Amino acid sequence: MLDSPVQEIKDKIPILDLIQDFVQLKKAGTNYKGLCPFHSEKTPSFMVSPAKQMWHCFGCGLGGDVFEFIKQIENVEFADALKILADRAGVELRRPTSQQIQVDRKKDVLYEINAAAAKYFAKVLWESHEAGAEALEYLRGRGLSDQTIKNWQLGYAPNDYHYLENHLAKSFDKKDIELAGLIIKSDRPQPSTLTPQPYFDRFHDRIMFPIINLHGQVVGFTGRLLHDQPNAGKYVNSPETPIYNKSREIYGLYQAKNAIRKENRALLVEGNMDVITCHQAGFILAVATSGTALSEPQLIVLKRFTDNLLFAFDSDSAGESATRRALELALNAGFNVKIAALGTAKDPDDLIHRGIGLFAKAVEGAGNFLDFFFDQTFAQHQAETVEGKREITKQLAPLIFRIADPITKAHYVRKLAVGINVAESAVWDIINKLSVPKSIRAAAKERRRDRREILEDRLLGLSINLADASFLAQFLPTDFRDENRPLFADLLALRRPADQFRAELLSFSADVDMKEQQLDPQPELAKTASEFQKLLTRQRMLELGSQLALAEQAQNKAAVEQLSQEYAELAKKISN
Ligand code: UTP
Ligand code: MN
Repeated sequence: MLDSPVQEIKDKIPILDLIQDFVQLKKAGTNYKGLCPFHSEKTPSFMVSPAKQMWHCFGCGLGGDVFEFIKQIENVEFADALKILADRAGVELRRPTSQQIQVDRKKDVLYEINAAAAKYFAKVLWESHEAGAEALEYLRGRGLSDQTIKNWQLGYAPNDYHYLENHLAKSFDKKDIELAGLIIKSDRPQPSTLTPQPYFDRFHDRIMFPIINLHGQVVGFTGRLLHDQPNAGKYVNSPETPIYNKSREIYGLYQAKNAIRKENRALLVEGNMDVITCHQAGFILAVATSGTALSEPQLIVLKRFTDNLLFAFDSDSAGESATRRALELALNAGFNVKIAALGTAKDPDDLIHRGIGLFAKAVEGAGNFLDFFFDQTFAQHQAETVEGKREITKQLAPLIFRIADPITKAHYVRKLAVGINVAESAVWDIINKLSVPKSIRAAAKERRRDRREILEDRLLGLSINLADASFLAQFLPTDFRDENRPLFADLLALRRPADQFRAELLSFSADVDMKEQQLDPQPELAKTASEFQKLLTRQRMLELGSQLALAEQAQNKAAVEQLSQEYAELAKKISN
């Protein structure tokens, strides 16, 4: 690894700079502290050490260097993390694998094709096609300025089946254009196998909204019909491709991300038009899920920028179960959620056209999501009938259940009980029987390390920290996980740890761990070693127990004798 660019990248990217782009950090002694971006929490357990160039979360157990951070937050493997950070550091990478080169080339081609298509659609809109003029008038008629139309790279796909195909085929392979989702292979049978299967354009007679990723690249399109058609969806999106993952992209986030981070809140609307009208009117925090229901991956992306979501959904969908699910997902992911009531307006676009001030009022006056849903649910069901009471409770109980603050929770339990006129205890019974669905929170917990790993890591970390390997002598290499064995061997042999990276990580965690818990590292090392030894012994005894049972069944006397003896020795050891 001597020639590796890893160290060069580390030298050029201070960990604090990098992580501060994603997490708000506060100084805490020589370290920095913030809310962990990888699990939901209310008190900060996410630590960054500029001195050690490491990070660690004491809540979910994740930690590492700049590469590990990018792997986790961008959800990529090491190779991609290396690329991302090399880009940022301006370090040139040599010799990626040939497979990686192929994948990257393919992706680059797809980005180029999408960019060329966006350019083409815009050209049609602005100059080169008769129908483009009508589309442009339509957009202007919907209140968009020419500048806005250009900023969002809007375009028009003419009502023809081969315009885009013929245009792009001048520069690209049709197979790649198909892979980009822009043309479709016809399933019409061909007269001979020698005639190639014809293609046709996916989008026709549609206003085209390029979908732009966080790096500013066009990854796909949303197309809105210019003229209503009975058998075609009003909105269609590009299909998923190697560069477009529907459940991760968020429309408008590229344009809104800096404002969202700065103001620490995002305005979530339903449609592309809503996003654009919002931005034009100065509400530059607006983004949309566009075409899909809000998903966990989208929430994870948003979480990198803010914890506060303000929903401004279409008024007809506010009471729908899809909206409620989106809301529950957001709550599970640890967002604070408010809902703007749009009154009689259909959607944000509509309300803004009635008056920017009206929309501003709706946004600033946005209330707690629960009050909103109480009003909604009580308006939809009869609180006097038994069925009505049950339905109202079914709708509201899961939302109340999720409130963390006990006083607030009690407030809403009472509000529900009074509203449907039943005893509060009945509502409590129902709430207490609910359970948290498998969610981001649960996923984060699952990654929590077990006690054996914690003790093992702490033992090694403290030994390095205190430069004291004497407590390690009682253990065997096999007592440690594969990843820790080289380090263990080096420490025992009093060599400078060859596995520098693990060594730094473990030492940093142990250090912060001791400070956090205000413990004295020296006695803690002895205690950790003895705890680890006890745990290993207990685990070994469990193993022996089941081996003994098998040996007895097989009437293997020699084995039984040997195993029993070992068992007895361990039992003695543990009682000392
Ligand atoms: P609307 O029909 O209310 O569209 O659907 P809109 O956003 O107000 O669009 P305009 O103002 O008529 O141009 C609401 C949302 O539902 C999704 C889109 O995300 C849309 O913005 N939708 C709607 C689809 O995905 N496909 C459809 O065919 C229709
Ligand atoms: Mn609309």
